[in-house]
Amino acid sequence: MRTAIVLGTRPEITKLAPVIKAFAAKGADFLLIHTGQHFSQEMDQAFFDVLDLPAPAYNLHVPEGGHGYRTGKMLIGIEDVLRKDPVDYMVVHGDTNSTVAGALVAAKLNLPVGHVEAGLRSFDRTMPEEVNRVICDHIATDLFAPTREAVGWLGAEGLTKGVFLTGNTIVDSVYYLKERLPDTLLAHYGVKHGRYMFLTCHRQENTDDPVRLAGIIDGLALVARDSGLPILYSMHPRTKGRLEQYGLFGRLEVIPGLRIIFPPIGFLESLTFQAHATLVLTDSGGLQEESCILGVPCVTLRENTERPETLGIGSNVLAGYDPQAILAACRRMTGRRGGWVNPYGDGRSGERIVDIILGTK
Ligand code: UD1
Repeated sequence: MRTAIVLGTRPEITKLAPVIKAFAAKGADFLLIHTGQHFSQEMDQAFFDVLDLPAPAYNLHVPEGGHGYRTGKMLIGIEDVLRKDPVDYMVVHGDTNSTVAGALVAAKLNLPVGHVEAGLRSFDRTMPEEVNRVICDHIATDLFAPTREAVGWLGAEGLTKGVFLTGNTIVDSVYYLKERLPDTLLAHYGVKHGRYMFLTCHRQENTDDPVRLAGIIDGLALVARDSGLPILYSMHPRTKGRLEQYGLFGRLEVIPGLRIIFPPIGFLESLTFQAHATLVLTDSGGLQEESCILGVPCVTLRENTERPETLGIGSNVLAGYDPQAILAACRRMTGRRGGWVNPYGDGRSGERIVDIILGTK
């Protein structure tokens, strides 16, 4: 059996790494296809390098453009690859435009599709990710759900066949790198263990709305003054572009103790900064999970989350984009380190998923 694995962005690389490695370890035949959605050294190759992944067999290098244009180019490119290099099964992960492109091409070619990280729901269809994950779940054959909550959401939509509770592959990747976190990084950035905040913010619903983006910046200013702690901000290119476009860059730069890191840091550095932070502030789904696994409290700069288990166990709170709400959430979460049980599994999810696909378990 030959399996295609489609990926295109940072989170797919980190979360499909354990699946790719499990295929390789079992000597199974797989074909890695990169859409090229993320393309910069620091957003793409750096992640392959740190996770010791093989180079993709194909990179489609989809050109920049809107959602429809890019997804369309991915559909054409993936179909072309699979016509000349046929496979028996398709694996996709998560909720990006690359995910939906891979799943849709496979479904049209009557190939079985395995969706890793199935069943997440924010119940907010204005988010491109929510549309993508709903589509993928409904056209997939095998649904690899990370948590019981995800199994429940699938069931609520009538998806009960081919559902497997596997845990989340991010645990595998965090465990893989946990012993390799560089201890010189904090000193390099002039911060001390447990005495800084780590920030990321890149989701379209925040970056592409100047009111929300300004609210978050004002919230950060309040938090910086209130806590007196430095804030390390690893900045996504999308956010940088929007801050410049809306004339908000200057307002961010003058926040006392806030340090912008651009281009954004790699996965190992991100895990290191999270592991030693007082607090993680983010709108990323991945960081909500990673901080939870690392035992560090998280404040999510959104009004909803498709990771509700983090709220339930108290590792995460939703703060939205109102400055006072962000300040209140940071005060509430400061000092709440650990004390919860990681709800995402035992770090063997990649192996479990590949065993199911290959029919060996
Ligand atoms: C995408 C995913 C999002 C995921 C995020 C992880 C969708 C709909 N969204 O959002 O779910 O959380 O990836 O980072 O698929 N850019 C670069 N270099 C790169 C990549 C992007 O400069 O390597 C810039 C480009 O200007 C690009 C913009 O960032 O147009 C946005 O990138 P895009 O892939 O469209 O969306 P993300 O915001 O990264």
